Amino acid sequence: MATGEIIAAIDIGSSKIKTLVGSFSEDKKLRILGVGLSPSTGVRKGNILDMDEFRKNIDTSLLEAEKMLGQHVNSVYLSLSGVTIESVINTGVVAVSNGEVSEDDVNRAMDMSQNGVDMTNRTVLKVVPESFTIDGTPGIKNPIGMGAKKLEVRSHIVSIAENVLSNIKKGILDVGVDIVDVFANVLSAPEAVLSRRQKELGVVCIDLGASTTDVAVFEEGALIFGTVIALGGEHVTSDIALGLRISIDLAEKLKLEHADVNFCKDDSLKDEEIDLSKYSKTETTTISKKYLSEIVRARYSEFFHFVNTELKRIGKDGMLPEGAVLTGGAAKIRWLVDLSKEVLRLPTSIGIPDDGDHISGTSLGDPQYAGIVGTLLLSQKYAPNRSRFRFSFSTNGFFTSLKQLIQKILP
Ligand SMILES: Nc1ncnc2c1ncn2[C@@H]1O[C@H](COP(=O)(O)OP(=O)(O)OP(=O)(O)O)[C@@H](O)[C@H]1O
Ligand SMILES: [Mg+2]
Repeated sequence: MATGEIIAAIDIGSSKIKTLVGSFSEDKKLRILGVGLSPSTGVRKGNILDMDEFRKNIDTSLLEAEKMLGQHVNSVYLSLSGVTIESVINTGVVAVSNGEVSEDDVNRAMDMSQNGVDMTNRTVLKVVPESFTIDGTPGIKNPIGMGAKKLEVRSHIVSIAENVLSNIKKGILDVGVDIVDVFANVLSAPEAVLSRRQKELGVVCIDLGASTTDVAVFEEGALIFGTVIALGGEHVTSDIALGLRISIDLAEKLKLEHADVNFCKDDSLKDEEIDLSKYSKTETTTISKKYLSEIVRARYSEFFHFVNTELKRIGKDGMLPEGAVLTGGAAKIRWLVDLSKEVLRLPTSIGIPDDGDHISGTSLGDPQYAGIVGTLLLSQKYAPNRSRFRFSFSTNGFFTSLKQLIQKILP
């Protein structure tokens, strides 16, 4: 890709369709040129339920970003979450052709690692190498250029249900844009918020979306585990609606304005009554803020228990020195960091895709943009439409001062 070329990404979320347009400077820094947001009314858990709505939402989101950019976008990278996305681990072995491992040998080994994995009705999105073994020596990160007879790779094969992907692609193509490549949110969200050091020492990125929670664990610089849990912010909202016998729309409003995962636990705080008539003409009652907090805390605790079960399965519960980094819109509930620390027994922070400066309002300084920012970053690491990772690419000094850029994109 030429320096300065404009690239765009669309994130197909269950609550929002996000578009991001940017370009990379010579020193590989991302400059944001346009942002678009649309409610997502045709997608649930990553599957299209209403193609018409889906196309309309894509159009709205794209148009908004194009307006900011001042020109049309012809092609996009896709960022997908969803319950049909899976990551499985497998190994592949090849004989090294000329006594020295070449990029071709690595690619062949990664291809071999897909053998024996059942991909019936599934499409491989990416094959991510975890580590290599050469002539019996394990733990090699980049074997290219090393002398060896036999090369083995342990890979993560990230795939999606074939019909889900083909319908998403169809909807996008119908709107008139081409698709350059497709990334799973479970890989892209960590890319935007984790440092090389965190990945080296051991960290889990938890992207809390509307209907899915993506979990990606890194150690010694590589992905060691990835999974998608079918839970997200909409479950919190529906618990509130059921618990308080109110509509989903009102429950969402209350969640955003009043909910907090700590209020019910803090005895020093006096309960407050929230007057529902302020939000809806048909409501006349009040509800207890403590009760609201109890409902929300119970569901978020469950999220972390599920994540912890996954961490236990791989022997990493309470064992990741760089802790948990939370992204996604649902990570914005108040006091979530404390609850995560308590349940996961890990240091926790919110992952914001900028260079650390706090940016308020609807901007990219928001954990909900991790997946889409990460997609633009990952687009530089993969040859288009290839599942394989490009080894030659260096990530040093990759990120830029988004704060500066955001000042440009904010009205
Ligand atoms: N301030 C907030 N407090 C609590 N929850 C919030 C807040 N802001 C947004 N959310 C929740 O975040 C969710 C949307 O997050 P996000 O944009 O990451 O989801 P998505 O990408 O559309 O969904 P998915 O990735 O599951 O397909 C919604 O459930 C919304 O209620
Ligand atoms: Mg998402």
